[in-house]
Amino acid sequence: MKILVTGGAGFIGSNFIHHILKKYPASTAGGPDYKIVNLDVLTYAGNLENLKEPENNPNYEFIKGDITDRDLVNRLIKDIDIIVNFAAESHVDRSILDSSDFIRTNILGTHVLLEAAKNNENKRFHHISTDEVFGSLGSNDSPFNENTPYDPRSPYSASKAASDHLVRAYYHTYGLPATISNCSNNYGLYQFPEKLIPLFVTNLIEGEKIPLYGDGMNVRDWLHVEDHCEAIDLIIHKGRVGETYCVGGDSEKTNKEITHKILELMGKGEEMIEFVKDRPGHDKRYAIDFSKIREELGWKPKITFEEGLKKTVDWYKDNESWWKNIKSGEYEKYYKKQYGKN
Ligand code: NAD
Ligand code: TYD
Repeated sequence: MKILVTGGAGFIGSNFIHHILKKYPASTAGGPDYKIVNLDVLTYAGNLENLKEPENNPNYEFIKGDITDRDLVNRLIKDIDIIVNFAAESHVDRSILDSSDFIRTNILGTHVLLEAAKNNENKRFHHISTDEVFGSLGSNDSPFNENTPYDPRSPYSASKAASDHLVRAYYHTYGLPATISNCSNNYGLYQFPEKLIPLFVTNLIEGEKIPLYGDGMNVRDWLHVEDHCEAIDLIIHKGRVGETYCVGGDSEKTNKEITHKILELMGKGEEMIEFVKDRPGHDKRYAIDFSKIREELGWKPKITFEEGLKKTVDWYKDNESWWKNIKSGEYEKYYKKQYGKN
């Protein structure tokens, strides 16, 4: 199977590449051979340091390029069996500052990929999306599932919702064999340190305060990235085309709870918390009902939040060189814009 992974130098994409190359090594006894072509333009969030191991694997190839580049995408797609689309602008706070790149990559980029898939014998297409397209839940509402109406509320989630609609439109109109997965908040190794967990862990290692938005009572459902990769693996092999699968971590937590768990793991006190101005339009709660993928494909998350968080904290402690460069470069620029500092 030859897979075109887009956005494979980012957080989830790079974990997925590790997952596939490890689970399906070059065939020795006539089993299927798995090859990965990783197309990534290397925005601030793309990092080839995430892919040191695959670098020398003959079944892995990196192409630096943009998913909005029609000619390039059309060329690459020719001998591909499946496209797994991770490429996106993915940070809600950045979408609030400026959404132009979100519209370009998330909507126009997905459209270019879909057109290329359609025009090259209707290639199998899997699209990675988010639970944020469903909007915000109240504390007593049932979790999102595949039938929840779309109600995106940030420029990021609106751009992801638009791309999901395009994928479904290509399935219904052109018979494109597509699937979509909507997952909850991922955490784990190689996450860019501007997202909640890696930001807080790395700030604490550096002795800096951790900025908790509003009252810290917003709720997210945390999914370990390795569990997520296992779910995608199952969907691309056994998922039914035309279907959507919701993938959740069975681990709803308030941001305050997460903060306290991180402080505890790192031996730091509550005085490190700085309550800052809330995110505009901050969605209150996300939660996912993953019964469909559990019943159809036998998937459920295996890594408990406690275990996953400990592993993640340890990794950031052991890999300072990975995140120090990032934090003093791209993140620093964003931070100044976000908090209006010079
Ligand atoms: P990320 O920001 O870490 O990585 C995105 C990758 O896409 C980067 O390597 C970047 O260089 C690349 N990219 C961006 N624009 C591109 C373009 N025009 N052409 C080619 N490459 C481009 O994101 P992530 O956290 O790994 O998220 C991956 C996918 O999962 C996204 O589609 C995101 O919407 C979705 N998702 C993420 C989460 C999460 O918690 N991280 C949750 C739900 C859904
Ligand atoms: P984030 O990691 O940005 O993911 P998302 O917005 O896609 O859910 O944020 C997770 C939660 O943490 C969200 O409720 C916002 C909150 N948050 C903070 O309180 N402080 C921060 O510095 C960040 C980045 C997020």
